[in-house]
Amino acid sequence: MPYVKLTTESELPGDGEAKEFEFGDKVICVANVNGTITAMDNVCLHMGGPLGQGYIEGDKIVCPWHGWEYDLKTGAMGDDPKSKVPVYPVKTENGDVLIEI
Ligand code: FES
Repeated sequence: MPYVKLTTESELPGDGEAKEFEFGDKVICVANVNGTITAMDNVCLHMGGPLGQGYIEGDKIVCPWHGWEYDLKTGAMGDDPKSKVPVYPVKTENGDVLIEI
């Protein structure tokens, strides 16, 4: 899969924060934990809550609607790790942030 530009480094969320980015017909949730940037689908498996509007707890993102939690690196759900939100590899290049999607 090719890496494609999602945003620029200057637009990334601050440490301990998540942010939503539109990408074609999708929305991607990008999170920053101690400078480690991760990207996952923005759609909660419960009722479609916007994960990028949630908050970060440790290495997890917590859905703002009813508190389901997902591992930022693997997308695995806290209570049922077999259920996963798709995650996308991220890299930065010349100030751009690219995801493999
Ligand atoms: S929609 Fe995410 S926890 Fe309910």
